[in-house]
Amino acid sequence: MGFGRSPQEKETQRYKMEKVTIRLEHEHSAKLLERSKKVLAGGVSSEFRKFNHPHALFYESASGVHIKDVDGNVYLDFTLSQGPMIVGHSHPHVLNRIESCMSKGQLFAGQHELEIELAEKLNRHIPSAEMMRFCLDGSTAVQTALRIARAKTKKNKFIRFEGHYHGWLDNVSWGLTQDEGNMGERHSPLAIPWTEGIAKGSQDEFIILPWNDIDLVNQTLAQHHDEIAAIITEPIMCNSGCVLPEPDFLQGLRETTEKYGMALIFDEVITGFRTALGGAQQYYGVKPDLSVFAKAMASGFPISAIAGKKQWMQLVADSRVIHAGTMNSACALIAAALGTLEVLEESGTHERIFRLGKRLMQGLERVSQETGQNLLVQGLGPMFHTGFCDLKKIKEFRDLRHYKQPKSKMFIQGLQQRGIRVIGRGLWYISSVHTEEHIDHAILMAKDTLNELKSSDL
Ligand SMILES: Cc1ncc(COP(=O)(O)O)c(C=O)c1O
Repeated sequence: MGFGRSPQEKETQRYKMEKVTIRLEHEHSAKLLERSKKVLAGGVSSEFRKFNHPHALFYESASGVHIKDVDGNVYLDFTLSQGPMIVGHSHPHVLNRIESCMSKGQLFAGQHELEIELAEKLNRHIPSAEMMRFCLDGSTAVQTALRIARAKTKKNKFIRFEGHYHGWLDNVSWGLTQDEGNMGERHSPLAIPWTEGIAKGSQDEFIILPWNDIDLVNQTLAQHHDEIAAIITEPIMCNSGCVLPEPDFLQGLRETTEKYGMALIFDEVITGFRTALGGAQQYYGVKPDLSVFAKAMASGFPISAIAGKKQWMQLVADSRVIHAGTMNSACALIAAALGTLEVLEESGTHERIFRLGKRLMQGLERVSQETGQNLLVQGLGPMFHTGFCDLKKIKEFRDLRHYKQPKSKMFIQGLQQRGIRVIGRGLWYISSVHTEEHIDHAILMAKDTLNELKSSDL
């Protein structure tokens, strides 16, 4: 079939360094932003889009690993739209899949067969996904998982970890900012709200802990287990420094949640389909009770899944836990997910994503050494993080305070000025259509940026 290889080969043939064209002008974007600010709050539709350089930018097209802004700058894309474009932008197989169902209707307020096809596929790939429901995004899928856990255990609180992002809704919008002096002691953190307007009392729904410390989790549970319905964790702390779990941490969570009869929830919104087709639970061999998938599932179309073991999901099947949504499972969304997963199922795809990611990580480490810089490159390969820091390893959220933020930011901006687009906080994503040539070009541009930074005072 060759869904994955053909566009990637085409991309290799087409790719020339001059494809990345940077004019360093954002005049048209600036004008659109001014116009946009009059009608869209802050000029954007998601908070994170504000943080581009030199301001929120407007884009007009994207194909494969390239994205073009309205001023004609073409970037080699490592943001992959915050993760979803794992098979590249505008993948022809995904678009064909969507097109083939569009003319037959879009949304039926009823079931259609493709939903079963998708659920069967996820059931085959994801170790713990015996039953599932589809939603529109990661944030609502997370809330569904918490609701199921509460209903089954008849307990109210959950344990979550500092620096883990589980969406923007009230009970998880805490503990995401570094505010020295206000964070409390490491062993009993104070959760700092991320935003105004959070419902009073939502901080009573959780206990927050530092990540990667199983002894502290166990001590906390020894005291509080009769209040706790679930532990929710990103299996890799992708949102704050791309920190891998310490050996046996995830297994430790599995054992302790089993002992107390509470749910272990993996938030696989980033790790799902990226670390393996079956997510981080397959990669690390630890089966949660419930897990949540979104980003890389459907090439940017809004679909997510809450999946789990039958004994937990049965509450939804029996309507004891309500899960609903007018737009859930619209035909195009399911088709986009099927198309994306079919590309990812091509043999060797994940091996390739890992290989390219590791090549890029090692290349960045090499040029950092060559230029005498302290760039810390940390992660798995399919996604990783860069920032300047004297530590050899970031282990938990509080360690992020060691990053030299202004310099890390200037590195990302310097890369952007050389046509390499990376998420502002230093997160890089690899797709199945990146090639060795793209990776080596990015390393070259990183070296150039590092040399420039060397001569600055930072
Ligand atoms: C780990 C994790 N969980 C949940 C979410 C929320 O997903 P969404 O933005 O689709 O609501 C995100 C988004 O970045 C995420 O990274």
